Amino acid sequence: MTEIANVTVRFGGVVALNDVSASFTQPVSGIIGPNGAGKTTLMNVLSGFVRVTSGSVSQDGTDFLRLAPHRRARWGLRRSFQREEIAGDLTVFDNVLVQADNAPGGDRAAEVSEMLAHVGLADRADKMGRDLNSFERRLTDIAKCMVGTPRLIMFDEPGGGLSVDETKQLGALILSIRDKTGAQVLVIDHDVELIRAICSETLVLDFGRRIAFGPTADVLADPKVKAAYLGTEEVTP
Ligand SMILES: Nc1ncnc2c1ncn2[C@@H]1O[C@H](COP(=O)(O)OP(=O)(O)O)[C@@H](O)[C@H]1O
Ligand SMILES: [Mg+2]
Repeated sequence: MTEIANVTVRFGGVVALNDVSASFTQPVSGIIGPNGAGKTTLMNVLSGFVRVTSGSVSQDGTDFLRLAPHRRARWGLRRSFQREEIAGDLTVFDNVLVQADNAPGGDRAAEVSEMLAHVGLADRADKMGRDLNSFERRLTDIAKCMVGTPRLIMFDEPGGGLSVDETKQLGALILSIRDKTGAQVLVIDHDVELIRAICSETLVLDFGRRIAFGPTADVLADPKVKAAYLGTEEVTP
């Protein structure tokens, strides 16, 4: 469980997060909101890239903000970025093995093979990072997040740039992560249909504030949430 309590983040005059609280208890939870709402900042707080101005975060009862970023990784925090960090001069297998090497114990090569099979890349384990298409890069990145006993995996816009079919596959894969690894998953995405399909609960941010949080269907039906999205459509030509 991820408990965010009264988190505020200021960057100079910008209040990127304004007294945000939410307890994520589901296997897969969503974070949505217009551009600039503070979604990535919240993930940066969890990973330790950004310090809170005030507030607290606990993970399964651990005071998370007291852990240095590398200790959060050792604890089992994983993150995937919209631009995946895939080494071009390593194979798919070795890209994933590098991540597994940071984790203690176990048969790492066997675990890498198992996760590559799980994401559907078993037949491309020897392909070089530089030769991967965008979906293969995304899948490799997800396999990296799944090795080494993760406890919390965060995806920032994993659906970006994917086709409808690829997005469906991605959704099914994200939904399988809890059973496969035991990890909890947080997903930011602009694709509300992806969020609706895979997230049992969703937090909605707008201008750094929480405007809704709860079961995804309820949240998406909330007039305040619809207004926040319509508001953006009106100013976006
Ligand atoms: N490192 C930073 N320094 C200054 N301002 C930032 C920084 N990171 C984010 N912001 C600002 O905080 C607000 C929230 O940004 P962000 O969390 O990236 O939004 P989102 O991911 O929802 O689009 C924006 O106004 C953004 O310009
Ligand atoms: Mg963002």
